[in-house]
Amino acid sequence: MKSSSVGTESVAGAAERPTLEWVDDATLPNTLRLPARAGRLLVLNDVAEATMAMPEVAGWLADPDTRVAGGGSNVVFATPRISKAAIIKASGWSAVHRDTGVIELSVEAGMGLDALVRATAGRGWFGLEALAEIPGTVGAAPMQNVGAYGTEIADRTRWVEVWDRRGRRIERFARDACDFSYRSSRFKREPGRWLILRVGLRLSATPPADWPPVTYPGLGEAVGEWSERTGRAPSAMSPAEYAEVITTVRLAKLPDWRGGWPGSAGSFFHNPVVAPEVATRLSRRWPDMPHFDVPGGVKVPAGWLIETAGLKGRREGAVAVSSRHALVLEHHGGASGAEFLRFAELVSDRVEDETGVRLVVEPECVNE
Ligand code: EPU
Repeated sequence: MKSSSVGTESVAGAAERPTLEWVDDATLPNTLRLPARAGRLLVLNDVAEATMAMPEVAGWLADPDTRVAGGGSNVVFATPRISKAAIIKASGWSAVHRDTGVIELSVEAGMGLDALVRATAGRGWFGLEALAEIPGTVGAAPMQNVGAYGTEIADRTRWVEVWDRRGRRIERFARDACDFSYRSSRFKREPGRWLILRVGLRLSATPPADWPPVTYPGLGEAVGEWSERTGRAPSAMSPAEYAEVITTVRLAKLPDWRGGWPGSAGSFFHNPVVAPEVATRLSRRWPDMPHFDVPGGVKVPAGWLIETAGLKGRREGAVAVSSRHALVLEHHGGASGAEFLRFAELVSDRVEDETGVRLVVEPECVNE
């Protein structure tokens, strides 16, 4: 279809700051609130090719020991100190609004994902609202293909622009070349190679056919309550109103990542996909077990497995399984990364003893 642009909008990010900064003995953000510092941190307030190609920048990033930090919402610092790190703070974005109702976004990696959700939903654009209240940056989102309530970032992604740390050049991957899958991508599968600089997303000025999506358990009720409270039909919901409903649903279960205690990294384990015969065996023992047929097998909620193993709310010292959502591990202050990971190991061992299913840790563990 032929389309022309009917409007563009650009929002500057860290433009007023110097292109790059070096910080010695820097604290690294992490929502688990484990101790984490870097001997030297490169802060990139700009991700233009000229900046990336500066010898001091390209050289720092080419070193495999340089750890790239994001919002720190999906990472466990097993050691409290690493020597070299880099972080992208560039957070500008622009939107081209086409006469077809399509909105093409280009977003720099340092923007907060939740901030982008609010900004786009607030303009009446559909597409990201189900991802409200997810911590982390836009740059980190394609890495592990973040998703919630039926939307994955892959569904909206058009391209991902990266810095090839080894080849020292910018590359742009179209969505299909990103190899997205459940909580994974080519970027995650090749750790240390790609630094995500910019993400291209496609949104829409008009709602999808099934608006608002309520297929996820609990959402139908929450949307129904909204409708009753406001006296308006669910189909009249704006994306911002839907994002608010998602926020309420999430905050009822997950610790607030904006600060305070306990710290957490969201879901700590993947939802395992087991062979059909394993699912049948489990269902025979636990007829109420929630399960979902997916390509390759049957997905069983890890939260359910942990609760069934009797661990919901279990606390050892400063680390606990959340009493509100068993898939969330909490740090209540004072634990080391190693202590935290020992507790996670105990949880997966216990789940395996009880159910025969081995859980896989979702966040990345940083060791040096
Ligand atoms: N469940 C329990 N006990 C619990 C928690 C959950 O039995 O304590 C069972 C319930 O039966 C529930 C099922 O597990 O129906 C699924 O739970 P929920 O709807 O909370 O979703 P989830 O599978 O645990 C996933 C994502 C979340 C995302 C939600 C909503 C993963 C690993 N996690 O959680 O993502 O927000 O769906 O889409 O896929 C994250 O990755 O950090 C994250 C929060």
